[in-house]
Amino acid sequence: MGEELRLSIGADVDVVEARQQGRALAAVAGFTSGEQTVIAAAISEIARNILMYAKKGEITLSLIQNGDRQGVSIIATDQGPGIADIDRAMQYGYSTSHGVGAGLPGAKRLMDEFTVDSVVGRGTTVTMKKWRRIL
Ligand SMILES: Nc1ncnc2c1ncn2[C@@H]1O[C@H](COP(=O)(O)OP(=O)(O)O)[C@@H](O)[C@H]1O
Ligand SMILES: [Mg+2]
Repeated sequence: MGEELRLSIGADVDVVEARQQGRALAAVAGFTSGEQTVIAAAISEIARNILMYAKKGEITLSLIQNGDRQGVSIIATDQGPGIADIDRAMQYGYSTSHGVGAGLPGAKRLMDEFTVDSVVGRGTTVTMKKWRRIL
């Protein structure tokens, strides 16, 4: 373990990079190719949100382990405008940018653990984890 990667998000290329690095780390954690794609998709949505709403931020990817489980943790943090109503933001179809409004709820569905912490005027942190059992 001890594998940790910090990525700055400030442009479209950074979203692509985060997606690829996430996929690579998921492979190291032993996830199947399909699961790697799922993890990369969740990272992509959260990275896009950083760009769209906060302009810039950071994503930390790490390998995690707990008993007979191993997995990946993704922490996305920004110092953007924050989210006033997190429950609402987590609903499908809710968007303040005329977007699809599926990024946050979609990413939550794809991952095993998903939390949003946000303070208006301070910023937003999205933490998500996906686990696999080691036999
Ligand atoms: N990092 C963020 N900073 C501020 N607001 C955010 C952030 N991420 C998401 N949001 C808010 O949550 C809403 C829902 O996000 P999402 O489900 O990804 O849908 P969409 O991006 O299509 O609007 C956004 O419209 C925005 O208001
Ligand atoms: Mg979005």
